[in-house]
Amino acid sequence: MKHLIFHTAGESHGPQLTGFLQGLPAGLSIDFERIDAALAERQKGFGRGGRMKIEHDRCQVTSGVRHGVTLGSPIAFVIENRDWENWRSVMSVQAEKPAPASDRERQMSAPRTVPRPGHADLAGALKYDFEDLRNVLERASARETAARVAAGAVAGVFLSQFGVETACHVVRIGGAVAPDKALTVAEIRMATADSDVRCADPAAAVAMHDEIRAAAAAGDTLGGIVEVVASGVVAGLGDHIQWDTKLDGRLAQALMSVPSVKAVEIGDGFGQAARRGSTVHDEIHYDFARTQTGSRFYRKTNRAGGLEGGLTNGMDIVVRAAAKPISTLNKPLASVDIHTKEAQSAFVERSDVCSVPAAAVVCEAMVLLVLADAYLGAFGGGAMNDVLERFHAYAARLDRFGR
Ligand SMILES: Cc1cc2nc3c(=O)[nH]c(=O)nc-3n(C[C@H](O)[C@H](O)[C@H](O)COP(=O)(O)O)c2cc1C
Repeated sequence: MKHLIFHTAGESHGPQLTGFLQGLPAGLSIDFERIDAALAERQKGFGRGGRMKIEHDRCQVTSGVRHGVTLGSPIAFVIENRDWENWRSVMSVQAEKPAPASDRERQMSAPRTVPRPGHADLAGALKYDFEDLRNVLERASARETAARVAAGAVAGVFLSQFGVETACHVVRIGGAVAPDKALTVAEIRMATADSDVRCADPAAAVAMHDEIRAAAAAGDTLGGIVEVVASGVVAGLGDHIQWDTKLDGRLAQALMSVPSVKAVEIGDGFGQAARRGSTVHDEIHYDFARTQTGSRFYRKTNRAGGLEGGLTNGMDIVVRAAAKPISTLNKPLASVDIHTKEAQSAFVERSDVCSVPAAAVVCEAMVLLVLADAYLGAFGGGAMNDVLERFHAYAARLDRFGR
């Protein structure tokens, strides 16, 4: 991201996660409840591990905002680890670490030496010359994604000024698949509000529960596919002129960075490869009387997922991400002790059976961050009013074009 700088710091069991967000204009009212609500969404989900019960994440903004309004200066925020009391010794930053507070903490202090297949454990230890895999896994853990969700919520507040709204849902967990149906943001929000697997189709949600229960009983794990939809995105964001400014590429990178995501699809994506062009591309029509969406150029289909040639085309953005099954299995996979080189079962760190519903929330946050960056690139300025003025001037120009 070029215009919105976003980084995180923090270990999974350290005292806190820290987020840093720079590039938003001054004068944006921050909705703190929206941030905590997004964090709560990430923690929900059938098939999550015990940690979700203790976390109850809250985001505390520590700079860049005064009296509820952004200052244009870097926004820093922290999300405390509610379980820190039990990890003070294991994760102490001081050379003189406190004595373990419990037998459990004493156990957790023992070096982890048997890497889990599917995690950064072994490659990270090789790269950083670590003798304790905890030095890798604490940062590689998806706990970090809580900071992404908080930052994504801030980006969402910014984007709502331009009428952009997003939603996410789960379309597959293991063998349970929701019917392939184009859903609007409003439909997704309504249909998933009470679903603990974040699925818009009730029958598929039941099948997803069954899949998760069966995998858990077998000491196994599951992955799946999530979809994020963004509506109200203006045409012309991104670019067709350079590889690294194409918005589809930037979305793919951002989604691919979500832990467990192994494939990204825009619009009909992989399915398009098997069909003829006549059944893939979204034909362009024009209606001199404005259509419902307010655009006179319109399409009857959105197989491109709102992106053509690296640019938004004014249709909903539709992206999907495929998450692999959780790598920590209660019935552990074969591995090797990094010290003794003896064959051993991979160690088991407290873990989810399926985190696909949470991954959907994280993917939505990444889409929000990329879109906020694109809006800042197109219309950015120091003050929110200036940004809006530039946006409205652009929208007026599109109208003169005949949008
Ligand atoms: C929200 C979320 C929660 C996750 N929870 C776990 C977990 O409890 N246990 C686990 O082994 N992996 C979990 N993962 C996946 C791992 O973090 C990920 O597979 C691992 O870091 C390796 O990275 P990679 O899959 O991107 O290659 C989770 C992922 C997400 C997005």
